[in-house]
Amino acid sequence: MNSCIGFILDEKLIEIDFSKERKFTPTTTVLNYLRDLPNHKGVKEGCAEGDCGACTIVIAELDGRNGLQYRAVNSCLIFLPKLHGKWLITVENIKNPDGSLHPVQQAMVDYHGSQCGFCTPGFIMSMFALYKSNLPNTRAVIEDALTGNLCRCTGYQPIIEAAEFALQDRKPDHFSKIEKEIIAILKKIVLKSMQMATDRQKYFMPVSVTELLYIKNQNPDAIIINGASDIALRVTKKYELIPSIIDTMQIEELHVIRKSIDHLYCGSAITLNQLMEVSREWYPAIYEACSVFGSKQIREMATIGGNLGTASPIGDLPPVLAAYKTDVVVVSEKGARIIPVDEFICGYRKTSLKKGEIIKGIKIPKPMDGTIIKFYKVSKRKDLDISTVSAAFRLTPDKEKKINEIKIIFGGMAEMTKHAVKTEKFLKGKSRTRETIEQAMPILEEEFTPISDARSSAQFRSVIAKNLLLRFFDDLADT
Ligand SMILES: Cc1cc2nc3c(=O)[nH]c(=O)nc-3n(C[C@H](O)[C@H](O)[C@H](O)COP(=O)(O)OP(=O)(O)OC[C@H]3O[C@@H](n4cnc5c(N)ncnc54)[C@H](O)[C@@H]3O)c2cc1C
Ligand code: FES
Ligand code: FES
Repeated sequence: MNSCIGFILDEKLIEIDFSKERKFTPTTTVLNYLRDLPNHKGVKEGCAEGDCGACTIVIAELDGRNGLQYRAVNSCLIFLPKLHGKWLITVENIKNPDGSLHPVQQAMVDYHGSQCGFCTPGFIMSMFALYKSNLPNTRAVIEDALTGNLCRCTGYQPIIEAAEFALQDRKPDHFSKIEKEIIAILKKIVLKSMQMATDRQKYFMPVSVTELLYIKNQNPDAIIINGASDIALRVTKKYELIPSIIDTMQIEELHVIRKSIDHLYCGSAITLNQLMEVSREWYPAIYEACSVFGSKQIREMATIGGNLGTASPIGDLPPVLAAYKTDVVVVSEKGARIIPVDEFICGYRKTSLKKGEIIKGIKIPKPMDGTIIKFYKVSKRKDLDISTVSAAFRLTPDKEKKINEIKIIFGGMAEMTKHAVKTEKFLKGKSRTRETIEQAMPILEEEFTPISDARSSAQFRSVIAKNLLLRFFDDLADT
């Protein structure tokens, strides 16, 4: 049994052996770990649920090409074992060795990007990750990188201007100078099968699907986690002690992305940011769904498997994946099964996974030329908010502008992602006219009974759903 994790902090290898460690458990968050250290109090707790960005840190890891990839993430949602084999960078590490400020820090000073300063370390870390990326210095890229950081005093304009200035001229910094040494240390940390156990908790980190399935069989009640952006809330908000966890982070087979001539295959551990990048060309509606999913920090953690696994009625991926006729590949010790995504989710937070099965990946067919697929999300605000209602549409028009095939899938309108079956039936074969759509709207209203909750009234949801139908056809007016 291997119970010791290794990661780099302050340029030194840190090891935590959970069989001996009494202060921290495997579900201690990186935020709480850092706040406990004497020299890393810059990281702040605002919400402890991924919503404010005050706890943003950067994790650098091997990119498979002898380099490092720097990702800004919310330390309040990351369990300690997820640091294994990585470089943890906090705001205390950012300044230059001679004590002068890093370009992103200097820009924040010069552009007056900080007042009370509570949010500032988080902003600095998001800007630092951007500084270390190859992303272009555009307003859209900067806004996207900062959507996960809230500021109650300064106003965003000076902060965005600071980022724009700092990113204008990205010279190698003091991190670039030590990267070779860091890479050498990280390469020595072996990614091996691990089991971290305390008196009350077991945390497994297998390295293959076969091993994962074996562990799951032996520990049927163990919870599988991918990014843990959902499950971590049970610890940080409900103070639960989760007795048994299987973390898929180290399983390479689940991190696979394969593009063939007619489909894209993504392993279940692919993050929303990776999915966003890979869907840009063939799957614009998936790209759109990812671009309004949480924040950049959340998308660095949240995975495809986790989004499907929650089976949330307001999960953003199920409707859009259904519009692309995606299959979910599930696997158990008995073998693999393929389940269409709209059959995979079968009730309120219920999947059709059988005992011992896990999500291995998804297969998204490339749509035929001429097929139109769109995704819309209505939420209280555009960024970092979950859906009030979401909708995905798939239309195959024929030459006379008739509706040949139509799929309409809603999130937030029922206890699970659901097709508007009656509306689909009504529209099929009809002409694409405003009149037809207006005739379809009452049918749509009739077939859903949404609920009222903190996000919206049932009535508002019904209106949104009808308007989204109208909007979809309106957006197609010129096609
Ligand atoms: C601040 C914030 C913003 C968010 N914004 C959005 C949003 O805009 N849209 C949205 O849809 N969601 C959002 N979420 C919810 C969450 O981030 C997503 O559902 C995410 O995709 C979950 O992925 P994960 O890997 O982190 O899941 P985890 O927390 O690791 O797992 C979630 C569930 O899936 C199961 N699971 C995970 N992997 C597997 C597997 N391989 N096989 C079987 N079961 C598995 C787990 O057991 C668990 O029940 C947000 C969450 C937060 C905290
Ligand atoms: S403390 Fe608010 S995002 Fe982590
Ligand atoms: S400077 Fe006060 S919260 Fe941002």
